[in-house]
Amino acid sequence: MAKFIPVDPFDIIIFGGTGDLSRRKLLPALFHRFLDGQLDSSNRIIAAARSDLDRTAFIEMAENACRKASKSWTDENWAKFAKMLDYIKIDATDEDADWAHLKSLLGHTEMTDPKRPLIYYLATTPLIYVAICEALGKAEMNTPNARLVLEKPIGKDLKSAQDINAGVGAIFPENSIFRIDHYLGKETVQNLLVLRFANTLFEPIWSRNSIDHVQITVSEDIGLEGRADYYDRSGAVRDMVQNHLLQLLCLTAMEPPNSLDGDEVRTEKIKVLNALKRFDANTVRTQTVRGQYIAGMNGTAPVKSYLDTLSPERQDSQTETFVAIKTEIQNWRWAGVPFYLRTGKRMDARRSEIVIQFKPTPHPLFGQAAHPPNRLVIRLQPDEGMNLFMQIKEPGPGGLHIKSLPLNLSYADNFTVRYPDAYERLLMDVVRGNLALFMRRDEVESAWKWVDNLLGAWKETDQPLETYAAGTQGPLQSAMLLDRDGREWWEGDI
Ligand code: BG6
Repeated sequence: MAKFIPVDPFDIIIFGGTGDLSRRKLLPALFHRFLDGQLDSSNRIIAAARSDLDRTAFIEMAENACRKASKSWTDENWAKFAKMLDYIKIDATDEDADWAHLKSLLGHTEMTDPKRPLIYYLATTPLIYVAICEALGKAEMNTPNARLVLEKPIGKDLKSAQDINAGVGAIFPENSIFRIDHYLGKETVQNLLVLRFANTLFEPIWSRNSIDHVQITVSEDIGLEGRADYYDRSGAVRDMVQNHLLQLLCLTAMEPPNSLDGDEVRTEKIKVLNALKRFDANTVRTQTVRGQYIAGMNGTAPVKSYLDTLSPERQDSQTETFVAIKTEIQNWRWAGVPFYLRTGKRMDARRSEIVIQFKPTPHPLFGQAAHPPNRLVIRLQPDEGMNLFMQIKEPGPGGLHIKSLPLNLSYADNFTVRYPDAYERLLMDVVRGNLALFMRRDEVESAWKWVDNLLGAWKETDQPLETYAAGTQGPLQSAMLLDRDGREWWEGDI
């Protein structure tokens, strides 16, 4: 059983503290860390929002949220946790708002105790990140102990990301800005680093010398979950590829960092992003697929088409809910190795996997088509674990038959602990001041540069929008993308 080392006392102000993220993720994450004894009871957790609530009403709201998320509820624990909670009604974009009241809730006469982190978590729309920071600056709340947490999406393209980064960077120093990509807080994503750099087995074969290609799949069976307005303006590339899939690609492909120090890891990831091949009018047509779901099934339940979930004025939406991309990392380690990425809403299953497909044996000793090459499947969710497919001889006389079977390393079989939500780990890292799992300014901008190139090439070529029925593996063209290369997507079948 993992031991939790208590973190130093801190205060956190959650702007947008009554919103969906706060209720579904942040408050339950803090509550779980409290239950595990990691939080000091002198901490203050203050929700700041425009809703007309008082402290009692907010605590009731928080209780509902935490009750839903917690399997080990006791009223006694809740009563202790609730003592840390407070609420302030404030328009955080207003420089003349009652900032003195917020300071008084924090209870510090001076907000500059360097040992007590003061965390501003912006769980709001990114459109007001800069305005909030400017107001905090004007109220002289950007003290040396302050840390700023930004949720994605940071912008919708390179220019808007640069504007946000410049705006917040004018008030807070870069080493106090924590840009969250919650995928980096997932246990299995962190395990990627351990798999690669705590085992000597893989490093010598982790390159174009032994690897045929890599697949990264993040498929979701859910639809828009009430976020149609945001999603239709973003699409799968901005919502999932720009951040989560590129982060997975970086961790899979980066060079070993010199240490786990935040900047060492991030510098290696940026090198991967900068080495990603750019698209032109020709390659974008043959190496990418955009799709949108039509009506179909979710398990045994019929579901509406994407367009039917949108408002009437959006019925001509060309937003992609699925994307498949073939890319390449142009450096010595990876030259010539395709990286296939795909993600989509309303697919057949919720499944996130990285598949490392090794090259075939150099000489077909057992007959040409006798066996598939080795394959390492890293399952990020659900059913976290890893399968390394090896070839073995099927027992029995009657000829030499080879079978591909997995060495199976399942988390569930080996660990009985509760898997903490990604936000639990990330919030504790903010308190500890550990930046390794957060994105640096230039990293976000490098990711946008590649995405801008892709979106620009789509626009230039008027890339068609394919359709797929809800509950399937995406458009046919996605299978054809690999088929043209003599390959196929790994669909999890053994
Ligand atoms: C979010 C996206 O960042 O990640 C959502 O905005 C998506 O559209 C979600 O559903 C997926 O996260 P997870 O942790 O459920 O895989």
